[in-house]
Amino acid sequence: MERMEVTETFAGIALPGHLHTQESLAFASAFTFRPTDVLIATYPKSGTTWMQEILTLLYSLGDARPAKTIPNWERAPWLEQIYCREALRDTETPRLLTTHLPAHVLAPALQRSKAKVIYVARNPKDVAVSFYHFHHLAKFLPDPSSFDAFLTQFLKGTVHYGSWFDHVKGWLGQRHLLDILYVTYEELHQDLRGTAQRLSTFLGCPLTPGTLTALEQHCTFSAMRDNAMANYSLIPAEIMDHSQGRFMRKGVVGDWRSHFSPEQNALFNRRYQEEMRDMELPSQWPM
Ligand code: A3P
Repeated sequence: MERMEVTETFAGIALPGHLHTQESLAFASAFTFRPTDVLIATYPKSGTTWMQEILTLLYSLGDARPAKTIPNWERAPWLEQIYCREALRDTETPRLLTTHLPAHVLAPALQRSKAKVIYVARNPKDVAVSFYHFHHLAKFLPDPSSFDAFLTQFLKGTVHYGSWFDHVKGWLGQRHLLDILYVTYEELHQDLRGTAQRLSTFLGCPLTPGTLTALEQHCTFSAMRDNAMANYSLIPAEIMDHSQGRFMRKGVVGDWRSHFSPEQNALFNRRYQEEMRDMELPSQWPM
């Protein structure tokens, strides 16, 4: 199947052109957040869809109907994507929003508001592996060529959505400026219950034992893999070629070990140390 490689460049970052226009990006940059808004911010492949599902269940007080009947991109639309304005029209507060944009684009508007931000991060080695596989089915992204070539571009920050390092450092830099909670993909794996409790406290959203049970049931990898409203199977084949892999691929921690050579790992570790050594990292940080 042909690739539909229309690219929109914004803030020095390449973004898929079928989802983004200069107009949609301007809409995001000038967005007026409500104090009750909740924004999920992530670099791609870091647990975005998982967090959308968790917050859906949390806010529905465990009622699975919204998660089972409304696609995730309508439940928590991406601020920068072309359909956002329309998706937001009838949404009741609190509005769930999602973004892959860098912090410097949204921080001024967020700082003026009292909106809450949940930043989800994942071990970048696993992000690179997941992103590489995603390029095979996502026809709106360039052909990834070999894993080695992709990893080189990932480390250079020339992949779509830009540099993982810049993204993470930008949002970590907002820790004293925004009402922001950092969550990792790894801690969702290790302790979904505990993380749901942390989210409930941060959001001021009650979490009864019944809600927690429903949340645990509907937010497992297998439940989400089988949920058409979360697994992207509704996306037409010319945009996501489902014969080339699944969006809900493996859902594990540490898959990088079966992809990285010792040389690639050493190179990655060196680069990571250089980029991250001065960062103040949250206690549960994955790497
Ligand atoms: P893999 O490709 O490693 O399987 P995003 O939503 O940010 O694009 O991230 C997608 C990644 O999160 C994929 O990783 C996907 O399988 C994983 N994921 C989504 N829901 C999950 C869940 N409930 N449990 C574990 N992993 C999940």
